[in-house]
Amino acid sequence: MDVQKVIDQLGGRHALQSLLGVGPSAISNYITRGCFPRRVQSIIDTALQDTPHHNQLHNPNANSTSSTTLTPPRIIHPTHGKRIALIIGGGIAAYKALELTRRLQDHGFHITGIMTKSAQQFITPLSLSALSGEKVYTDLFSLTDEAEMGHIRLARETDLVLVVPATANLMARAANGIADDLASTILLATTAPVMMAPAMNPAMWSHPATQDNLARLQSRGVHIIGPDSGDTACGEDGEGRLTSPQDIVAHVRARLEPDRSSLALSGKHALVTSGPTIEPIDSVRFIANHSSGKQGHAIAAALASHGATVTLVNGPVTIDPPTGVKLVSVETAQEMHDACMAALPADIAVCAAAVADWRAQAPKNHKIKKQAADSMTLNLVKNPDILAALGTHEQRPTLLVGFAAETENLEANAQQKRIAKNCDWIIGNLVAVSSGTNTSDNLVFGHDKNTIMLVRDGTSEAWPKMRKTEIADKLVAAMIMTLNETVADKEPANV
Ligand code: PMT
Repeated sequence: MDVQKVIDQLGGRHALQSLLGVGPSAISNYITRGCFPRRVQSIIDTALQDTPHHNQLHNPNANSTSSTTLTPPRIIHPTHGKRIALIIGGGIAAYKALELTRRLQDHGFHITGIMTKSAQQFITPLSLSALSGEKVYTDLFSLTDEAEMGHIRLARETDLVLVVPATANLMARAANGIADDLASTILLATTAPVMMAPAMNPAMWSHPATQDNLARLQSRGVHIIGPDSGDTACGEDGEGRLTSPQDIVAHVRARLEPDRSSLALSGKHALVTSGPTIEPIDSVRFIANHSSGKQGHAIAAALASHGATVTLVNGPVTIDPPTGVKLVSVETAQEMHDACMAALPADIAVCAAAVADWRAQAPKNHKIKKQAADSMTLNLVKNPDILAALGTHEQRPTLLVGFAAETENLEANAQQKRIAKNCDWIIGNLVAVSSGTNTSDNLVFGHDKNTIMLVRDGTSEAWPKMRKTEIADKLVAAMIMTLNETVADKEPANV
């Protein structure tokens, strides 16, 4: 193989570094050896099929040391370019297929939407087409659609058929081989794997007819995702809720990803803290903060999706843990500290939790009575600093990343925290509290988006505002790059 030619075709050495998440010396090694390692070959093959787009990866500012706004590293997911035929059934949960489309696209999937007639009662083909950037198919007997992309091609030229929401009706038709519209015809004609995420009224779900259909579909290899339990749209409580888009994405990725041992973080252990800690004052009161765990959980999910074994230590949160991580749930800072130390050794540790710096010196195990006096004093003592403890631990993780939630002087405070806690990176975020009349742009706690500054040794990069899931993906891309540089720098140049 002409390694240099491939590098040129992919936009040069910088572009290939970004693509593979490796440092300059790794590229030199590939040129010297005249071949690429097996673990990166599939990424290169995919990128070669997509070269015009791929050339945009080249970012000459990648090593800038100023705190200007930079385009964060882009990651090419192992599933990049895979095609999904997304069949949307007619249920109230159909609107969640729009969010799902976005999340799947975040991971490089191409989505072709197919909507049943009833689905169009809930969302329009136009909204799905605007999101997916592709034509949406609705009609089995459309002359133009059949000429462009017939139903057999739709069914065959895909890596996966995903049905969301899978209604009782759609499941029944698929189970019985009925092909009376475009969606059911595709389900009958496809040779690709099929996944269904059911959503319906709990009584319909538990009905023997639906359960029989479910068993039939499963016996034919259809992968069923959920449904979850809880309040359903019809007001009844029970099994029948659509699984969250995040979990559906995790199932899809697990199915379509190549061999996990070839993933960039395979064999690495990552420790992530997330959410708040709560510190009891008495049997009913506690000190807490507004952290939701969204940022930390997104990082844990991104690390896991790149093959890392992830231990997620979270304080009390209401969001679900990402699929495939080892979850350790704690309440107090001391418990979080102990769980983190017990999880070592780790190659990567990311402390995204908002840990209470203080706890009540003597929490009462009964409810403290209201006193006659107008004030009361609560004695606080310092909690252990988990990040700092990891920074000085004899099993210090190779890459130690902390966060800094600041209300002012973000860069200076973040740099100072990085040094004080002996960590490699600090992710600074300017935060404001989302309460009262606050109209600040910096609503971070509990929100889906964040604006961060990545502070490393002597450098800082302000990233544009983006979704916490996107930040997580890009941070993990940068982590892979850094870890590979460390490894490549240790490799002899001519092997
Ligand atoms: O959970 P979300 O709603 O998605 O919000 C995300 C977030 C705002 C909570 C997150 O992005 C964030 O900024 N987390 C760190 C919040 C924080 O406690 O910052 P800090 O500046 O007080 O702490 C600095 C670092 O030390 C953090 O990595 C923190 O996890 C760590 N720390 C702090 C105190 C302590 N006792 N132990 C620690 O490990």
